[in-house]
Amino acid sequence: MLKRANYFLREVLYRDSLFRVPLHFGTVREQDIATLAKGAGDLDRFHDLCRTVVGGGAVYSFAAGRMALFALLRALQIGPGDEVILPAFTCVVVPNAIQFVGARPVYAEIDPRTFNLDPDDVARKLTTRTRGILAQHTFGIPAPMDQLRALVSDRPDIVLLEDACHALGATLHGRPVGSLAECAFFSTDATKMVCTDIGGFAVANTPALAAQLRLQWERAGELPAAVQAKLPAQFRRKYRYTRSEYYWGAGRFQLGMMLRNGSGFQYTDELDNRLPTGYPYPSRFPAILAMVALSQLHQLAANLAHRRRVVERYREIFRDLPQAQLAPGAEASWLQFPLRVREPARWRQIFDRYVQVSDWFNSAAYGCRSELSVVGYENGSCPVSETVHGSMVAFPTHFLVTDAVLDKVESLYRRFRSTLPGAE
Ligand SMILES: Cc1ncc(COP(=O)(O)O)c(C=O)c1O
Repeated sequence: MLKRANYFLREVLYRDSLFRVPLHFGTVREQDIATLAKGAGDLDRFHDLCRTVVGGGAVYSFAAGRMALFALLRALQIGPGDEVILPAFTCVVVPNAIQFVGARPVYAEIDPRTFNLDPDDVARKLTTRTRGILAQHTFGIPAPMDQLRALVSDRPDIVLLEDACHALGATLHGRPVGSLAECAFFSTDATKMVCTDIGGFAVANTPALAAQLRLQWERAGELPAAVQAKLPAQFRRKYRYTRSEYYWGAGRFQLGMMLRNGSGFQYTDELDNRLPTGYPYPSRFPAILAMVALSQLHQLAANLAHRRRVVERYREIFRDLPQAQLAPGAEASWLQFPLRVREPARWRQIFDRYVQVSDWFNSAAYGCRSELSVVGYENGSCPVSETVHGSMVAFPTHFLVTDAVLDKVESLYRRFRSTLPGAE
């Protein structure tokens, strides 16, 4: 009897994907949802708590990571005529923000073993116009900060900025990301280490930059009242819809409907690569989501411990494949567990019905719907990164990835291993 019930649960329901584990919202728990009932939170408390997590710099929150980057670029007075180097393995909103201040994004190769910037290629991309280098800690794996800092040691006109959107809680030589360069920015969107659905914050690590950043924050607008009014209900509904047992059934449909019929809110800036008009850019973080952020920040240690445990298991399951390499002294936050494989579409076909497998980053500027030239990328200009774009899968690591889910991943891998080519 028990055996039959087990068979039904694992094989029939799993196969019908009712238990699909989503990439989104997996960090949110009941206790976070409960805080929404308390109304708006105190942004100063939010900033103070972030500050303790990121190593003590001055923190100002915005309505998205991209807006935090924009505010930092403005605070640094980076603009027309300037170049900012970024990895050819990022999200389209990053080059958008660079272009929105009038600067030029210059793409550098990533190292396929670390998914982070290749310092040798960054050196080749430096010009007299370079004003910034975006060190992205991809998947939460700390970027090679020592080498990047060495590259600019004789160029005081170049600022190192950490794109720490994936990496809240990661450390390098015991120091938290966010404190490894002059400034940093984080995201708290639906896929990130701490999830407020939309949101992010900027960190300034020098008093002079902190003063400039504060000015940018003071000048920033607020999301329209009609948008803010939708956020708590949207958060609650997304939370409910993305619970694993519900997501692939009615939940996914309801989520789609909510976003289509206007009862939800999502950003449009990444789609048309033009400064959005429906809301101020940058906007400040909506205080209505601050309680939920605080609640999750208090659980960050448990969140990190869970992800690291899950990654140990993934490493074991996929031990015959090449694994992401970490620099000495680096401890990753493991936002996702990345693997390079030869046929990502086939991997997705096998795993996606049970565990939503991410396709980050299948392009130099992920999510860009137009030609990449619109965001300043020339096809063929970063051939190594382009190989990686075509060979990525990344598994979720958040709280919904339980031992049962990992067992399922393991059994699927065992079953299909002979037909699943690994990375070259
Ligand atoms: C590497 C990276 N940087 C920046 C961002 C932007 O974050 P946000 O969506 O909060 O603007 C993302 C979003 O996924 C990202 O993956």
